[in-house]
Amino acid sequence: MSKRVIAIASDHAGFQLKQELLAELAGLDAEVLDLGTHDQESVDYPDFGVELAAAVADGRAGLGVLVCGTGIGIAIAANRNPAVRAAPCHNTTSTRLARQHNDANVLALGARTTGPEVAKDCLRVFLETSFEGGRHERRVAKLGNGAART
Ligand code: RB5
Repeated sequence: MSKRVIAIASDHAGFQLKQELLAELAGLDAEVLDLGTHDQESVDYPDFGVELAAAVADGRAGLGVLVCGTGIGIAIAANRNPAVRAAPCHNTTSTRLARQHNDANVLALGARTTGPEVAKDCLRVFLETSFEGGRHERRVAKLGNGAART
């Protein structure tokens, strides 16, 4: 069976945490698509949110991870793509529920608001948790055109 592909992207504020998440992903059973940014030079978070959203929408990746200072701006950018449900999460509970209830296909983390250990926990929970379906199917269908269920 082929490995699932996880796309990851950040702006400059999220770069360092992205590198830590990449190290974490290296220990997991996943293929990683790193869409940048690749250093701490100032960039614009919408460019990276939009690029990662396109990778999830066109199937290059099954799930995505975004990091900016707060996880908010880059999630707003990604959520303009109707195939994307990007959830800014601050702890493992919000992350688990984002997968179980919202079928979130992108995890958005804030490097200035969430410490690296919590962020790594969120990443693992995000990858390990499945959509519950059932009553949530109808509600998620109302959010947009929906990406493939993971
Ligand atoms: C960059 O300074 C910062 O505004 C950005 O990373 C993010 O927090 C925006 O939502």
